[in-house]
Amino acid sequence: MLKFSYKNALNFFREEEIKLLEDQINIGHKNLEEKKGPGAEFTGWTDLPVNYDKEEFSRIQKAAEYVKENADVFICIGIGGSYLGAQAAIDALSNHFSLGLDKETRKAPQVIFCGNQISGRYLEELLEYVKDKEIALNVISKSGTTTEPAIAFRVFRNYMEERYGKEEAKNRIFVTTDKQKGALKELSNQEGYESFIVPDEIGGRYSVLTAVGLLPIAAAGINIEELMQGAAKGMETFSVENIEENPAYQYAAVRNALYRKGYGTEILVNYEPSLRNLSEWWKQLFGESEGKDQKGIFPASVNNTTDLHSMGQFIQDGKRDLFETVIWIDSANSSLEIPEDEANLDGLNYLAGKNMHEVNEKAMLGTVLSHVDGGVPNLKVSVDELNAFTLGELIYFFERACAISGYLNAVNPFDQPGVEGYKKNMFALLGKPGFEAERAELEAKL
Ligand code: PA5
Repeated sequence: MLKFSYKNALNFFREEEIKLLEDQINIGHKNLEEKKGPGAEFTGWTDLPVNYDKEEFSRIQKAAEYVKENADVFICIGIGGSYLGAQAAIDALSNHFSLGLDKETRKAPQVIFCGNQISGRYLEELLEYVKDKEIALNVISKSGTTTEPAIAFRVFRNYMEERYGKEEAKNRIFVTTDKQKGALKELSNQEGYESFIVPDEIGGRYSVLTAVGLLPIAAAGINIEELMQGAAKGMETFSVENIEENPAYQYAAVRNALYRKGYGTEILVNYEPSLRNLSEWWKQLFGESEGKDQKGIFPASVNNTTDLHSMGQFIQDGKRDLFETVIWIDSANSSLEIPEDEANLDGLNYLAGKNMHEVNEKAMLGTVLSHVDGGVPNLKVSVDELNAFTLGELIYFFERACAISGYLNAVNPFDQPGVEGYKKNMFALLGKPGFEAERAELEAKL
């Protein structure tokens, strides 16, 4: 069961402040439930865990089986919401060193993401890496026109057609895009690729539980039925109107109470390397949803205890406008104990026999107390253990909290007008037809 605690933030705001946000939360709740608030046309994710296309879900599972049987590497091309969720889930639930496991033990291909930057070196090295491995590919783009994935897909489509021939390449390429429009949809129709849909009413950063995330996650050997069941449990728990019974609404309220007091940066803190990319997904979800109209909480992350030896200094002692949210897994999926050592030269025998998780937990508790003393409010989101079910719950928790939090701060949490600026300039500087006037203007500034 997911739990949320704000007891370590109560030195920094009064509990009544949450009460005072209740009316606004109720309005946000109604807006989400009745799909009539700002950005209502993108609220298809609210009931997605129960209301999804079951026929497509089976096709996804079938495609994943094909990939598992026919590929050593599954290349997933996409950017932003079109890869961050899948990357987070796969990292959270896979063996850290699965690459080193033999194929039989691994039972799933290695999933490699690309098309999420414009590095030629990365693509070149990836082409080299896969040259003696069987590959399959999933290109994911809701709009079907995003430059980064479009370039990577052009490179890999050429490569696969040359290597496998057009017909076999077709069997190995899967497309996830809009159901009817966009360049990728057109190409997919023309070439006859098997395609999956990004529903109109779900924006990229809320799309991990659609085909966008589900195909890569299933191909990585993760049980997507359990993931959806966990999300459905999350939907049941975090769609309750009463804030006292709804941890997601409490989280939204507390972060807004802190924001209004000047705490403008939230740091998501984990103590497991497998959660590093969950933070990347969370940063996109909250950053793109809330950072607009010249306001919003800046979402950052640290990976502990690693970052206690770098960012820990700033968090303890630097500018005081930070708060932290710790994601904690109550029971570790590991029984590793610290061994006894007769010589005890490292002085660690006081830890001998202790489970590593117990040590990690004391490090977490000690850090929380120290940061609170240093003026950093601390929130905590915890789950009993990390598996597909609890990850589904966590995903829905953050999605629901994010939407309500955006409404509390009077922004539309479902648009992203700010991401267009760089694209316009990049197109102009690259000489894209139609951007001639802007090009001259920009070049004069360079
Ligand atoms: O959240 C979003 O909408 C964005 O991050 C998109 O996911 C990202 O820009 C990729 O867009 P697309 O899937 O259209 O290629």
